[in-house]
Amino acid sequence: MEIHILPDLEALSHEAAEMFLSLSKRYIEGKGSFLVAVSGGSTPIRLFALLGSDDYKDIINWKGVHFFWADERFVPRDHRENNYRILRENLLSRISIPPENVHPARTDVSSVMISARTYEKEIREFFRSYRNGLPEFDLILLGLGEDGHTASLFPGSDILSEKNRLVASVDDHKHKYPRVTLTLTVINKAKNIVFLISGRQKAAIAKKVIKDKDGSLPASHIEQEKGNLFFLLDEDAGLLLK
Ligand code: 6PG
Repeated sequence: MEIHILPDLEALSHEAAEMFLSLSKRYIEGKGSFLVAVSGGSTPIRLFALLGSDDYKDIINWKGVHFFWADERFVPRDHRENNYRILRENLLSRISIPPENVHPARTDVSSVMISARTYEKEIREFFRSYRNGLPEFDLILLGLGEDGHTASLFPGSDILSEKNRLVASVDDHKHKYPRVTLTLTVINKAKNIVFLISGRQKAAIAKKVIKDKDGSLPASHIEQEKGNLFFLLDEDAGLLLK
């Protein structure tokens, strides 16, 4: 586990962009592809915009990059809360990435359960063509909610003990919209996991997860058997970690 505390969100986003660039080079040169799952929320938006800016968009080999989602709200793709829309507006619309390299969860099916099953099938089929057929993302970008959730793994959810499924549906009426989420089973197989955490309001939960390792919090269960785990925080969010 590496903890990097950066002065502010801008510096955090630049550090994350540099990590994305170097990891993309490593994996595309090594195996021809860089398989990424991104989260929603507001923190990664600046990173997405940076990757789509003149500083990065022409030096990343997008033909080798595949985007998946760590979670998705079950709303239409043009809905303001749709995580695919956030990436499309801030990054995908600015780069030439083959459409077949973008793998959003479907929200045009009749239920969130079907969306989860369909996404799981797509992920399993995609990874079948890879080395050992296991769904091992090269990078998963995660955020941290003030309640300790990450992706759409919420405190007290029975999804946290799911061992077989790769994707689960969250339809417990505690959230504005139903969601689909990757499970810990697939998240904890990632070669690299990077948390992006920003803002004074995250300081307390960041301490509980990173320092106290409070097992009641879903984000505390993010740890690969083998793989690199990074926490990128700005000064405000890292206040209680020093
Ligand atoms: C989602 C996200 C969620 C997010 C955290 C942090 O779709 O809601 O995946 O897990 O990462 O809630 O959100 P902020 O970055 O907006 O604080």
